[in-house]
Amino acid sequence: MSRKPIFAANWKMNKGASETEDFVKSFLSKQQGLNLPAEIVIAPPFVSLPKLADLLHDSNPGQNAHAIQIAAQNCSQYDSGAYTGEISVLMLREFFVHYVIIGHSERRAIYGETDATINAKIRKAREANLKPIFCIGETLAEREGGMLETVLRTQVTDGLKDVSEKDLSDIVIAYEPVWAIGTGVTATSEQAQEAHAFVRSLIADLYGSDSAAKIRIQYGGSVKPNNAAELMACPDIDGALIGGAALDPQSFLEIIRNGTAE
Ligand code: 13P
Repeated sequence: MSRKPIFAANWKMNKGASETEDFVKSFLSKQQGLNLPAEIVIAPPFVSLPKLADLLHDSNPGQNAHAIQIAAQNCSQYDSGAYTGEISVLMLREFFVHYVIIGHSERRAIYGETDATINAKIRKAREANLKPIFCIGETLAEREGGMLETVLRTQVTDGLKDVSEKDLSDIVIAYEPVWAIGTGVTATSEQAQEAHAFVRSLIADLYGSDSAAKIRIQYGGSVKPNNAAELMACPDIDGALIGGAALDPQSFLEIIRNGTAE
């Protein structure tokens, strides 16, 4: 089963419109002619989406600009109405957004998002034909307490509740151990592979082996140019969700290049 790897930059609360423009121009000029065998996604803050859409959709296709997909970092589970500060899936569609990160550990920990909220967002995103990048992962205390599999099982089962097999085929899972995010501590390739294989087995239990073989599972947590190759060589790792190291165009490109090298 060949799964196209997907490398996504999650900029978190970094880069307004002008910094987005600087990054994209630099990234496109470096990427020119490379034709990387991967899907490339950028998730900027909401306010930078219009600029990113302009840059990627108006620029010369010869620059491979269309090869880059746009993601949002979050969406509302509601359609419209009195939800101050929220952004709906249809609003995102207006800016050529194709992916949306849902259930990031920072949303879970800082903003109290539950598995039920995350499930509602995933289903709402699919209604608008957005592709969720569904984040899961355990804390250090959970891992050390022997809870890894229980935590992942609950997050996957509850997050995907009432999600059809067809909708699942447009979902990417991102396994991001919370203790590896922004800490410089990466999971070893053995730890990552073991967790990814377990997540794939959960998908097989819920949807069958075909769906499990097809779904892409990204790794996230301190991915850098110097560890990308080893992580991406693992059989169940299909790309990366990258925070800090994707703020710099050269470093993001090196991660993709090293992570896709034969
Ligand atoms: P870092 O790559 O900075 O560890 O962040 C990972 C992450 O949270 C991506 O969503």
